[in-house]
Amino acid sequence: MEAEPKPETLLKNKAQTSYPVYTRQEVAKHKTVESGIWVTYKSDVYDITNFVELHPGGDKILLAAGGALEPFWSMYAVHKQKHVFEILEEYKIGELRPEDVQETCDVTDPYRKEPLRHPALKVNSLKPFNAEPPVQILSENYLTPNEIFFIRNHLPVPEVDPKQFRLNIEGEGLKSVQLTLRDIQTKFPKHTITATLQCAGNRRSEMNGVRQVKGLNWGLAAIGNAKWAGAKLSDVLKYAGLPEDIDAKHVQFEGLDKDITGSPYGASIPIRKALAKDGDVLLAYEMNNEPLPRDHGFPLRVIVPGVVGARNVKWLNKIVVSKEESKSHWQVNDYKGFSPSVDWDNVDFNSAPAIQELPIQSVITAPSNDEHLNSDMNEITVKGYAWSGGGREVIRVDVSLDGGQTWRVADLSEVKPNEGQAWAWKLWQLTVPLPKDQKNMEIICKAVDNQYNVQPDTVAPIWNLRGVLNNSWSRVKVTIKSK
Ligand code: MTE
Repeated sequence: MEAEPKPETLLKNKAQTSYPVYTRQEVAKHKTVESGIWVTYKSDVYDITNFVELHPGGDKILLAAGGALEPFWSMYAVHKQKHVFEILEEYKIGELRPEDVQETCDVTDPYRKEPLRHPALKVNSLKPFNAEPPVQILSENYLTPNEIFFIRNHLPVPEVDPKQFRLNIEGEGLKSVQLTLRDIQTKFPKHTITATLQCAGNRRSEMNGVRQVKGLNWGLAAIGNAKWAGAKLSDVLKYAGLPEDIDAKHVQFEGLDKDITGSPYGASIPIRKALAKDGDVLLAYEMNNEPLPRDHGFPLRVIVPGVVGARNVKWLNKIVVSKEESKSHWQVNDYKGFSPSVDWDNVDFNSAPAIQELPIQSVITAPSNDEHLNSDMNEITVKGYAWSGGGREVIRVDVSLDGGQTWRVADLSEVKPNEGQAWAWKLWQLTVPLPKDQKNMEIICKAVDNQYNVQPDTVAPIWNLRGVLNNSWSRVKVTIKSK
């Protein structure tokens, strides 16, 4: 029996023939496995029926069935890479009639009105925009300046006219209420907190060192600390008539940023956190004494101190009080932790709870990994940040200069939070004599919070397929060089 030709052979054969020409209407008839799933890109037609199962983004690819890939690829620009074009080429079956080509090339880019960004930010992805500051700058400021605060966007930044803005509130036992931005600024007391926001994927790149994970390759700076001001969510919910004996268990949030199907970014938090007297959940309109910047949720976002960044919904459009958690992809099928034994072929997202409070964390921000220190220096100053979720206060940071054999206690920035409300990070530093007899040093830090939670020593045992929740000891290797 003759072996099946490999795709490359098919490609070679195809390249020598001329392709059949199709109209856009003909392509539109191929949306199912039975009819074959066809898509177009620029002037070419592809039959991707056999690729659907292999698509890393799952069956989202079916959104393009029978039509053009451009609108989806401009939303998820990760596709515009050489290897993706090479894969697509293997599935080419024809060409579009020339008069049908123009339409798809004119697709408007949903990212064309993005804000200007600070050039110091290190870009992880442009569309959607994701970036972090150089980690050395992070510990220079207790309050991270707005311009260099990390940005984590899943979708295009919406353009919001503050005069037209309305916040919609509804759900279990509530009146349906619409509030203007001015209402939120004037009807409720302004409450200010300093809180650290950390993405679940902070330090994901270290997980990649163990085994490849799926997600943006964040370094050490997908975290920042800011002063947020706004109305308390609990005050706003009471205004909307929230009954005392509420059955609801969750407060869901929806953003104004929408994917190509019209679904907004969304997330939810337990109602217990939303209503706790010391929970400090804000509908924030200011960041570090300025109106929220566009990238950080202008004009209104939720700040849930002590809780993973993903639940701090930006460009807030709607609040729903409910018995159920948000059904958003990012609540249900993302931002969850798993055993290192779980991989993409056996993961069951329903088996794990959505991440809420984050674990204890600390990171060395200076010196940098692989830095050369001059042996003429008498002293070395090690610096970093430390923070724990759930309002747990960091009480100590231990630093080792010899790979963990001996430890010293670092100096912590002295900001004394109220019990259970330690929302802000502590910056720490330790100045010690530079060991003269060593050529290499492994510097390590690990923090302890007031419930004596500590960081795990290595990454491998907490590796998970999405690369979230990396809070292993932070390690930096430096070389000491004589001039
Ligand atoms: N809210 C909306 N509407 N859209 C988003 O993409 N990203 C979330 C959260 N809120 C997101 C959102 C994630 S994953 C994080 S870590 C934080 O916003 C990041 O907030 P920042 O960009 O202000 O740093």
